[in-house]
Amino acid sequence: MTPKTPPVCDYEGSDYQTSFWEEGGRAYEDKVEAIALRRLLPTRGDLLLEVGAGAGRNTPRYKGYQRIVLLDYSLTQLQQAQARLGRGDRYIYAAADVYSLPFVDGLFDGATMIRTLHHMADAPAALREIRRVMRPNGTFILEFANKRNLKAIARYLLGRQDWSPFTPEPVEFVELNFDFHPQTIRAWLREAGFQTERQLTVSHFRIALLKKLIPLKILAAMDSLAQLTGGWWQLTPSVFTRSQAAVGDTPSAAAGEGDAAAGGFFRCPACGNPHLREGDAALTCETCSSVWPIRDGIYDFRGG
Ligand SMILES: C[S@@+](CC[C@H](N)C(=O)[O-])C[C@H]1O[C@@H](n2cnc3c(N)ncnc32)[C@H](O)[C@@H]1O
Repeated sequence: MTPKTPPVCDYEGSDYQTSFWEEGGRAYEDKVEAIALRRLLPTRGDLLLEVGAGAGRNTPRYKGYQRIVLLDYSLTQLQQAQARLGRGDRYIYAAADVYSLPFVDGLFDGATMIRTLHHMADAPAALREIRRVMRPNGTFILEFANKRNLKAIARYLLGRQDWSPFTPEPVEFVELNFDFHPQTIRAWLREAGFQTERQLTVSHFRIALLKKLIPLKILAAMDSLAQLTGGWWQLTPSVFTRSQAAVGDTPSAAAGEGDAAAGGFFRCPACGNPHLREGDAALTCETCSSVWPIRDGIYDFRGG
């Protein structure tokens, strides 16, 4: 049986990519996120894990990586991603829960998690699990929703919001939607075994009137400049961080003797066994007998 994990914000059947991005007036947010990613991504890499990949909006931006694993809990989001990106060898699609990743320790030299941490009821557990599957010195790019943003501060000071943007705990403003304090995220990253080396503040001008009045190119250029202040203060609704997986926290992989070094890839999310037998239609765990279906090229590790 799969270990008990926190609740998941369910995107099954959602038209998020179309309604939120393509028809939702968010060209500015998309453009400034692309700028931040360009600044933070390494130029080259081997194997990247994209956690909460959704419909693959950001995937084409990970140009330097040889192979990319798109991981999302929602099968239909991954189906949309597969329809956009195709089935070539470069992309591996896995429906799974971030709290229980179906990979051996120390596998990835890169990971990203964009607009996904805000659905985590136990964010530290998700960060620890991501660290487990990363190689020492691997690069992790994390975007999080910042509770200490200017709008929240103004609303709080004017008495229009009952929660304080200054206190360290997350705020759940809608069920399974959380904003976090930047200091808390830095502490959690450290505790999970990451060293944060750069922060960019993103979406400084996320105001409907500005987006309407100022041409996209100019607004994005202004944000691009303002992003560089992210190491000094963080008052935007979105913050991007780049961290390195600390050396020595994945002992087996660091010693070159781990399952990843031995050519392992998937592991059973129910029992942790790194030896799964792959057939055409499923992976089977020889230890606990769990069967993980492969649905039209998407590995399905949910349930169990
Ligand atoms: C707001 S969308 C972001 C998608 C994409 N990163 C983007 O920026 O366009 C959040 C995604 O996180 C996924 N998600 C939420 N909880 C998850 C979990 N526990 N494990 C894996 N994916 C999860 C959802 O299915 C959804 O596709």
